[in-house]
Amino acid sequence: MRGLSPELSKTPVVESGDWLMLADKCIIVGITGGIAAYKAPDLISMLVRAGADVHVIMTESAAEFITPLTLQTISRNPVLTRMFDPLGEWQVRHVSLADRADLIAVVPATANIIGKVCAGIADDMLSTTVMATKAPVLFCPAMNVHMYENQILQDNISKLRSKGYHFLEPASGRLACGYEGKGRLPDVSLIFEKIQNLISFDKDLEGQTFLITAGPTREYIDPVRYLSNGSTGKMGYALAEAARDRGARVVLVSGPVSIPVPGGVTHIPVVSARDMFDAVIEHYSGANVIIKSAAVSDYHPKVRLSTKLKKSRGDWTLELEQNPDILQHLGENKGDRILVGFAAETDNVLENAAKKVRAKNLDLIVANDVTQPGAGFGTDTNIVKILDRDGQVEELDMMSKKDAANRILDRIFKLSKAVE
Ligand code: CTP
Repeated sequence: MRGLSPELSKTPVVESGDWLMLADKCIIVGITGGIAAYKAPDLISMLVRAGADVHVIMTESAAEFITPLTLQTISRNPVLTRMFDPLGEWQVRHVSLADRADLIAVVPATANIIGKVCAGIADDMLSTTVMATKAPVLFCPAMNVHMYENQILQDNISKLRSKGYHFLEPASGRLACGYEGKGRLPDVSLIFEKIQNLISFDKDLEGQTFLITAGPTREYIDPVRYLSNGSTGKMGYALAEAARDRGARVVLVSGPVSIPVPGGVTHIPVVSARDMFDAVIEHYSGANVIIKSAAVSDYHPKVRLSTKLKKSRGDWTLELEQNPDILQHLGENKGDRILVGFAAETDNVLENAAKKVRAKNLDLIVANDVTQPGAGFGTDTNIVKILDRDGQVEELDMMSKKDAANRILDRIFKLSKAVE
């Protein structure tokens, strides 16, 4: 087995280039029926240029002010108005969008939509989606000055603010109705800035370098057949994306997967466990935190055939040789780095994971029972337990892999503060 001195890797490094500010973010722009609706396309266009995946939901009265076709063209996504448009998606759409959203911005927000959400009314696509989301919701009210000053609306705004909804105060000036006063939609650049602030996480991992491994490895038997496992890389990629969002520099060493590489991370594609070992060793010395979420094959065929094996040779036995245990090797050369392993188990989850923490000299291990529905390979959710060196166990409920990634990073952040 090789030592930890950097050596030239056979694997290419793919820098992801410029990373757009809102890349990978799903933003829903809700448009309600006010004259300021005509400004929504400018905002949508800014969001799209910043890399966001923008979905527009408009009320029927908004469609009196601006056409769905304009918004569809600018957002590059179908525009939703009615609850029951047959668009062919199998999910309940208000729920699927509400789940995917990183933020919902209602621009402009009329007194009507604010009143409805405040009263818990969900009677159209927009109010239903707002009620069904856990993402931050930003209202940008724009209306006649007297309507804005109406105590009922002001009480509704206070109540919604106290429940965690966000508001951008309207600007003052000449209003479409002819009055002077507060009620104009703020400049779209201010709305854009507010969205960006709400969406970006604390940069609490700034200055740290994360080395994250993800996906399966493939151990080739002949040019077309290999030994592998069902890992899709979703958990590791969610960790890479979340660490990047929180300001870390991220090196992602990944086995073959079919999901897109998050922007702004250094991607090192590998195939076999041996390749992964080489790539990890090459980047190990510069990392403060290593997360080994990859599902590494423990064995490879002793002989790799150069031509396709023919069945004419009848039954045969495949002889396997053990791969290096990458994490074990890192644990033996840990220094002051934070080392996090994963344990995908099918039985005795806690017991097996606890053994691995000790055997591999880890700070944390993230264990899951891959036989549980909603956990493990290929799902968008996970159910994990985080174990530390002292035997403490944090059991998390089922949550999206993105949320689970942030909870794991919270633990790493605490550990990094403790060693400072
Ligand atoms: N791991 C590794 N190199 C290997 C095998 C595993 O770095 N050759 C890492 C995995 O990335 C994971 C942790 O070790 O973070 C645990 O992997 P797992 O497959 O659950 O356990 P093993 O150590 O392989 O033990 P076993 O297969 O007996 O459960």
